[in-house]
Amino acid sequence: MMYPRVVRIHKVVEETKDVKTVFFPFDERVEPGQFFMVLIPDVDEIPMSVSYLLDESKGFTFKRVGDATNKLFEKKAGDLIGVRGPLGNGFNIHGEKILFVAGGTGVASVAPAVEKALSQNRETVVALGAKNREELFFVERLKERGAEVHVATDDGSIGYHGLVSDLMLELVEGDSFDLVVTCGPEQMMKKVVEVCSKKGLDVQASLERHIKCGMGVCGQCCVCGGLRVCVDGPVFDGETLSKCRDFGLFKRDASGKKVYIH
Ligand SMILES: Cc1cc2nc3c(=O)[nH]c(=O)nc-3n(C[C@H](O)[C@H](O)[C@H](O)COP(=O)(O)OP(=O)(O)OC[C@H]3O[C@@H](n4cnc5c(N)ncnc54)[C@H](O)[C@@H]3O)c2cc1C
Ligand code: FES
Repeated sequence: MMYPRVVRIHKVVEETKDVKTVFFPFDERVEPGQFFMVLIPDVDEIPMSVSYLLDESKGFTFKRVGDATNKLFEKKAGDLIGVRGPLGNGFNIHGEKILFVAGGTGVASVAPAVEKALSQNRETVVALGAKNREELFFVERLKERGAEVHVATDDGSIGYHGLVSDLMLELVEGDSFDLVVTCGPEQMMKKVVEVCSKKGLDVQASLERHIKCGMGVCGQCCVCGGLRVCVDGPVFDGETLSKCRDFGLFKRDASGKKVYIH
């Protein structure tokens, strides 16, 4: 997995004003929650979770936040990118009834896990959070597949008015789940993991850290006193995260400097 495979984007879908999905040919098996290093020529190589798992192609869904994602945002069908992967462990989907909690672009990595759970006839409840209704995406996709979808917005423009972690609290109070799966802003995931620990619920969260090699060699992505997000994660269980001092507290930037999470 040393070198990127050059692939030609064959479809681009605009999900929101700032979020797009690019599809590329890739017929190998990929598990929900795994990621690729995506080489954007002349700019950077960045980690992206797989958001669509089709037999002959895969997709990434991303928000434009900086140099690499802005350049990827400009790409059209026919343009070339490099992909290195699949990397990391992915979600371990089990149990009869599963709650998925996603905030912002976290739904990109959660959506294929929801689809996998549905294809295995598991009861599937999804809580999606965004700043406002314009920033929500994949709601119809997941409803059409048969998931029970709840939405939360910070401004109350649709669904529950407030944080998706508070909506999650209501959902777990009134129901019982065998597993909770979460991806999104780390403060949100921290709350989800805390709630699950208190209630004795099995939980898995997908972490974001600065990834360089993606192969467990450079140590750039270490969390929890030595676990590497790129090979030991990005998905970690609640037991590991409950003991992890940096979870929800700080990340490291490209130079290794601590960046505190607000
Ligand atoms: C395993 C893994 C999977 C990921 N999957 C996805 C995915 O499916 N979709 C997706 O959109 N992103 C995903 N990311 C995050 C994505 O890799 C970063 O957003 C990307 O590297 C930013 O690169 P850039 O050059 O555009 O921005 P940079 O120039 O590196 O950063 C520009 C600015 O954006 C800020 N920034 C960087 N990352 C984020 C972020 N995630 N959210 C908000 N602000 C940020 C920086 O602090 C900086 O201020 C994933 C990250 C990891 C580790
Ligand atoms: S990015 Fe190099 S060890 Fe994870």
